[in-house]
Amino acid sequence: MTAAPDVLIAREELQERLRALGAQLSQAYAHRPQPPIFVGVLKGSSIFLADLLRTMAIDVLVDFMAISSYQHGTTSSGVVRILKDVEQPLEERDVVIVEDIVDTGFTLHYLRKTLGARRPASLRAITLLDKVVRRIVPVPLEWSGFEIPDVYVIGYGIDHGGLYRNLDQIYAAPDLPQLAAEPGLYVPTLFKRSDGGDV
Ligand code: PRP
Repeated sequence: MTAAPDVLIAREELQERLRALGAQLSQAYAHRPQPPIFVGVLKGSSIFLADLLRTMAIDVLVDFMAISSYQHGTTSSGVVRILKDVEQPLEERDVVIVEDIVDTGFTLHYLRKTLGARRPASLRAITLLDKVVRRIVPVPLEWSGFEIPDVYVIGYGIDHGGLYRNLDQIYAAPDLPQLAAEPGLYVPTLFKRSDGGDV
């Protein structure tokens, strides 16, 4: 019998927190000479970025990076390489790195170092989730939506095996070994097919 995933952060909580973050970000950049550039880290941050930007009251530019981290089991190794870079120069611009989750900190550390070398006017980072208990590399993080415990999360951009990103709330997956063996484990519980049947 498969235990259903628990809702860790409900959609209303997400919406409320995003509104607060959007207000803070709007205020932080309202008086700057040029719009800030928000750099989403594909793919996980895409849902958060899209919703966050629509809570903001100022104009912004959007760009994306895709990076590959070499995984050892469920922990990233700290070795990262760029698969897709931003498409505009960052020199003298205000840059905000947007992450869905910061875990060991390797990815954000790498991004800060890499983008920082391009001489932006300012470089800050925001993450929806901060799994601070898992941090290996201490890394500055200016804004965070929620600090979460060491639980395996899916939903709202965060995947397992490419699945679950389009859930509109964050779930804690209770049975990691079973999910690892069967990535679609929670699909029948969390999604419906248009014909009403199971996936
Ligand atoms: C996740 C997340 C961060 C990184 C954080 O990306 O979006 O980029 O892991 O982990 P770290 O702090 O241990 O480095 P993932 O590799 O799962 O890619 P995805 O966003 O495409 O799912």
